[in-house]
Amino acid sequence: MSDILTHTEEGILTITLNRVAKKNSLTGAMYAAISDALEAAAADPVVRVAVIQGHETIFSAGNDIGDFLKAPPSADSPVIRFLRVISSFPKPLIGAVCGAAVGVGTTLLLHCDLVYAGDNAAFSLPFVNLGLCPEAGSSYLLPRLMGHQRASEALLLGDPFTAETALEVGLINRIVPPAEVHALAHRQAQRLAAKPLASLIASKRLMKQEQAAPVAARLDEEIAIFGRMLREPAAKEALTAFMENRRPDFSAF
Ligand code: COA
Repeated sequence: MSDILTHTEEGILTITLNRVAKKNSLTGAMYAAISDALEAAAADPVVRVAVIQGHETIFSAGNDIGDFLKAPPSADSPVIRFLRVISSFPKPLIGAVCGAAVGVGTTLLLHCDLVYAGDNAAFSLPFVNLGLCPEAGSSYLLPRLMGHQRASEALLLGDPFTAETALEVGLINRIVPPAEVHALAHRQAQRLAAKPLASLIASKRLMKQEQAAPVAARLDEEIAIFGRMLREPAAKEALTAFMENRRPDFSAF
């Protein structure tokens, strides 16, 4: 079965992360499949809204760490395309999150218009712990969403945060039992799909107008720094330690 499932019905594109054995960590092929689906949905007048969801037990463990080691992203990598596509998707995008949402599993939510979470959701941004820096425009968007100090807990300390905190800071819209999250996201998608598409697109664009250019610029800057750091010894040590199931040793860095 494919690692990304896509389904379009009643004007709603549903993208399901389906690599549960590897905690829905995202490979190049998965980023490419999501980008293809979103680009096709953006161009197809029949599709009015998109939903991105994982599994009731796990949203996503972030980028595949083996991929980071084997093939660090370069300008034409699928992950870079994915970040550009998701951050400029013109139609409403709904995130449905249960379980862990790590790294890009959390930062992609900053580009969703509505996010529903299970009470088992746990958000974390362990970029510094991995010798890396924030991505997906999160260094710009997160401090503006939650304030510098709370963003620092998330981005510098790498402290995970709960669904309650995510609700309080405005990252998500509602918390429900995990078994109800996907159905709730779908109901909200149906409500949006019944509305005039041109109004949805114009409203989303107007709401995001001020941030569009700075987010695109920050995304590029983050990509350059992240790509450089990924090739440096601290990140290599952290990522290798994860693959070897041991604690990283940063004493030399
Ligand atoms: N990349 C590649 N493989 C990953 C992965 C990732 N990001 N996250 C999990 N996996 C794999 C594990 O290696 C393991 O594979 P195995 O069964 O072949 O040994 C499998 O998925 C299950 O993961 P495990 O860590 O045993 O599950 P858990 O329930 O104990 O923990 C997480 C779940 C998400 C908390 C944990 O897997 C985790 O912290 N993952 C890394 C997250 C991360 O740092 N992502 C990068 C962000 S930039």
